[in-house]
Amino acid sequence: MARTVTVELAERSYDIRIGSGLPASQMAATVPAPHVLIVTDRNVDTLYGDRTEAALRKAGATISRAVVPAGEETKSEGWVFKLYEKAVAAGLDRTALIAALGGGVVGDLAGFVAATYLRGIRYVQIPTTLLAMVDSSVGGKTGINLPAGKNLVGAFHQPSEVLVDLDTLRTLSRREYVCGLAEVVKYGVIADAALFSTLESNTEALLARDPALLTDIVARCCEVKAEVVSKDEREGGLRAILNFGHTLAHALENQLGYGRLLHGEAVAVGMVFAARVSVAQCGFPADEAGRVSRLLEALGLPASVRTLPDLGASAEGLAWRPLRQAMTTDKKVRGATPRFVLAERLGTVVFGRQVPEDVLAAEWVKMGG
Ligand code: NAD
Ligand code: GLY
Repeated sequence: MARTVTVELAERSYDIRIGSGLPASQMAATVPAPHVLIVTDRNVDTLYGDRTEAALRKAGATISRAVVPAGEETKSEGWVFKLYEKAVAAGLDRTALIAALGGGVVGDLAGFVAATYLRGIRYVQIPTTLLAMVDSSVGGKTGINLPAGKNLVGAFHQPSEVLVDLDTLRTLSRREYVCGLAEVVKYGVIADAALFSTLESNTEALLARDPALLTDIVARCCEVKAEVVSKDEREGGLRAILNFGHTLAHALENQLGYGRLLHGEAVAVGMVFAARVSVAQCGFPADEAGRVSRLLEALGLPASVRTLPDLGASAEGLAWRPLRQAMTTDKKVRGATPRFVLAERLGTVVFGRQVPEDVLAAEWVKMGG
């Protein structure tokens, strides 16, 4: 059964529609546009490009398609300009719509092009990874990477609609799927203890990608994100809770080189770390911190340094000193004291917390770092 979640943002409000086998033509019905530019990556294009184009064409739109290489390197200035050129050549005007069909890379890149082409045109998100369905397609953060760091250029630009077809998850690799589950667990910790318990009781069905369970869970994650974004669209404060586990995760990715450790794997380790620090600093019950680690492990995610994928020579970057340094050489927080989102109970977190250096180092060492 399909579900709809609304992101309430006054005149920029929009729906997230979640179901199995949702045809893209439904999107065209609710977001009409005479001309649609589908932006997708090569993998997703092979699997879903023709189907999406046919559905949109049936709804009457003129369709152009831009296919970019898969992978994080495509979130770059070079690809932004290639897409502008494609948009001009295809004759896209202010009434046109961009459809971002793919994972977070395509969503962030195509969203940024939509935010800036002709000073901003509409776009829709059609996420095809679990991470994109529960996180990156919702909330309007768009952007690209610079050689100096990830997501250093971007814009807040809300989509006109998010269309989630859970069927597309069937073709996603297990590693990418499980990485999306790390963000799902995050929503349980930051906002919904009942969701967390549901995940604990249904790990097999989750790993089997059970469509009914996924409909409920993706919808619940989108509800949480929608509520947070509605209250704090531009991350003045509360939106930071979506970064539970991410302070350490970003440092790990930075130290080990992007791609070796996937984002969801880094977030899993980062959440276990944040949970342990929360026990030390925030009265988070130790048994609840244990539940966070056990759930992540049951889902096949790393919960300590010992269970990380084989990192070869780059494993040296896991020592506390370089990791800690990476937290404050990050271009977005250079020189600042790192701030943490910490849990008080499952489902309740606080944000913007500073933590004594000895506590951070000690917890990392206990995790095998
Ligand atoms: P991704 O877009 O690179 O997709 C992962 C891989 O899966 C790619 O190789 C892709 O081709 C493939 N793929 C996608 N859908 C598929 C499907 N249905 N079947 C088979 N293969 C498929 O990675 P991602 O994890 O979706 O997104 C990561 C990006 O999202 C990062 O750049 C990150 O910065 C960004 N992000 C943005 C936000 C935000 O709020 N804007 C939030 C979180 C993450
Ligand atoms: N992924 C964090 C945010 O959307 O704010």
